[in-house]
Amino acid sequence: MTKPLIIANWKMNPSNSRDALDLAAVITKEVKGVEAQVVLCPPFVYIPELLAVDNVFVGAQDCFWENKGAFTGEVSPLQLRNCGCTYVILGHSERARHLKETTSMVKQKIQAVLSVGLVPVVCVGEEDIAERKTELEVKLIALLQSVQAKDISKLVLAYEPLWAISTNKNARPEDPEDLREVVALIRRILISLLGEQSLQIPILYGGSVSAENIQSFLGPDKAQGVLVGAASLSAREFVALVKNAAIGYKE
Ligand code: PGA
Repeated sequence: MTKPLIIANWKMNPSNSRDALDLAAVITKEVKGVEAQVVLCPPFVYIPELLAVDNVFVGAQDCFWENKGAFTGEVSPLQLRNCGCTYVILGHSERARHLKETTSMVKQKIQAVLSVGLVPVVCVGEEDIAERKTELEVKLIALLQSVQAKDISKLVLAYEPLWAISTNKNARPEDPEDLREVVALIRRILISLLGEQSLQIPILYGGSVSAENIQSFLGPDKAQGVLVGAASLSAREFVALVKNAAIGYKE
């Protein structure tokens, strides 16, 4: 990737569309011309409004695995595609924790998202650092084993160790040198699963990313972008993060 991919996961924020549009308006103005691909993933209800904003892509934080039917409360990949979304975050650990979303559900969602031409941002990460290798291997195989060769280049992977997500107790960001090792591990697993073509998959890092630490996570043998939670809710912090990412990525 020539530019870092910076995905903002707004989670269940902000509480009204005025604030959502204000946040997006500052971001779009400030990131114009910056060498980074910025994706804003707001709650579903703000997606149509945010699609009117320039210089950024818009994504969703989840979707269902069927395109239509009697699934009360769900939003389909087709609906997201047809309203202008480009990306969908899938399998975020908060969905497993609070809603009991399983790997098999996420696997179906990946297929559904790919089938309508959206980009799935597949989240994967270990709960226990001591079990990292096994946990990542098991999860990646379960999630990606049925991805067809034609779809490999459409995937984005977000490595998010659960203990690094800022809202978790005692959260701390990944050590950048450890990130290099874990990315090498993920690359090895992906190659054995999907072949050399998997080298095209951007690997993002997520977990307590800030404007200050972003550069330490980026690089050809580290992350090609980031998935940002808390720091994406402050226009000032997020704009600084995007600008630092662009500078760090060039060096
Ligand atoms: P954080 O969240 O940046 O607040 O740690 C990341 C995420 O949950 O995707």
